[in-house]
Amino acid sequence: MLCEKPLATTVEDARTLVATAARVGRRDCLNHNLRSYPLVQQMRRMCEAGELGDILVIQGTYSQDWLLYDTDWNWRVDSTEGGASRCLADIGSHWFDMAEHVTGLRVTSLCADLQTFHKTRKRPKGPVETFAGKLLQPDDYVQVPITTEDYGGVIFQMGGRTRGAMTASQVSAGRKNRLSIEIYGAKSSVAWDQERPNELWMGNRNSYNQSLVKDPSLLLPGAQSYADLPGGHAEGYGDTHKQVFKRFYSSLDNPENDLQYPRFRDGLRQLTILQAELDSHKNRGWVDVPALEEVKS
Ligand SMILES: NC(=O)c1ccc[n+]([C@@H]2O[C@H](COP(=O)([O-])OP(=O)(O)OC[C@H]3O[C@@H](n4cnc5c(N)ncnc54)[C@H](O)[C@@H]3O)[C@@H](O)[C@H]2O)c1
Repeated sequence: MLCEKPLATTVEDARTLVATAARVGRRDCLNHNLRSYPLVQQMRRMCEAGELGDILVIQGTYSQDWLLYDTDWNWRVDSTEGGASRCLADIGSHWFDMAEHVTGLRVTSLCADLQTFHKTRKRPKGPVETFAGKLLQPDDYVQVPITTEDYGGVIFQMGGRTRGAMTASQVSAGRKNRLSIEIYGAKSSVAWDQERPNELWMGNRNSYNQSLVKDPSLLLPGAQSYADLPGGHAEGYGDTHKQVFKRFYSSLDNPENDLQYPRFRDGLRQLTILQAELDSHKNRGWVDVPALEEVKS
C-alpha cells in the first residue's frame, strides 16, 4: 500500500491506517518524497556521522505563493474536504518529516501560531485543479468562509538541548516551493533549499564555508544511492518520487531487505505533531508532543 501524504486528516484515522496495514500484513509506504533528494540524504548522513557535532539549532521554512489571493481556490482550503489544517498539514508536514529524518531527533514540545489571512475566499463555481485557478473570471466565483490557515509559525524543542523554529506559508509572493532547512551544530552547519536542490551549503566557524554541487562520487556512502545521475546533471522533484517508488517496489521483490522509505507510521507521526500545533494555537501555549507509539508492522 502506497499512500500520498498526509496519511489522514486526524490522528485517529492515521492510527487506524497504521494498524490496518499491520493487520493485513502488507508493505506500507507514505510518500514523504522530499526526504529523497540526494543532498537531503547527504545532510542526514553528515548528522549521523557526527560531522556537525551536537545539533543546537534547526530553522527554516516551507513557503509558497499559490494561495496568496482570495480568488485562489483549491479543495485544500475547505476544511470539510482537506481537514482542519491546510498549510501545516500540507507542507509543514514535509518540513517536520525532513527535520526529524535528517537529524534523527524528535520534536518533544512546540508552540504554534496560525493565521488565516483570507477569512473568506471566492470559490470557483466549477472544479479547479491544483495550481490552475489563475485563468478564471469574476463571475465564475461564489464567496465562502474559510477556517484553514494560510500560515503557521512554530517554535519547538527536540529534547532538552536542541531548539528550532519554522514557518509554513502559502501566501509568500515569489516563493513557489521554498522548503529551506538550516541545521546548526556545535562543530559546523548545513543549509539546503528545495528551489536549488543540487547545492548544499556547509558553514564553518574557523575556515571557509563550502558549497557542494551534487555529485554521487562526493556523497557519503549512505547518500550515494539517492543520486542516479553523474555530477552536474541535476536531479529534482520528480526524481524524489522515483526514489520512493523504486525502494518500495524493491521491498516487494526482496522482502528481506531493510525498508528504506517513509512508512505509514511516519504519517501518524506527522499527524501527532500537527495535532499538537492545533492544540497549541488554540490554547495559546506550549504543548508536549507524544512519542510515536510502538505499532507492530
Ligand atoms: N508528495 C508530494 O510532494 C505531493 C505533492 C502534491 C500533492 N501531494 C498529495 O497528493 C494528494 C493529491 O493532491 P493534488 O495536489 O494532486 O490534488 P489535485 O486536486 O491536483 O488532484 C487530485 C485529483 O484526484 C481526482 N479525484 C478526486 N477525487 C477522486 C475520486 N474519488 N476518485 C478518483 N479521482 C479523484 C481529482 O479529479 C484530481 O484530478 C494530496 O494528498 C496531496 O497532499 C503530495
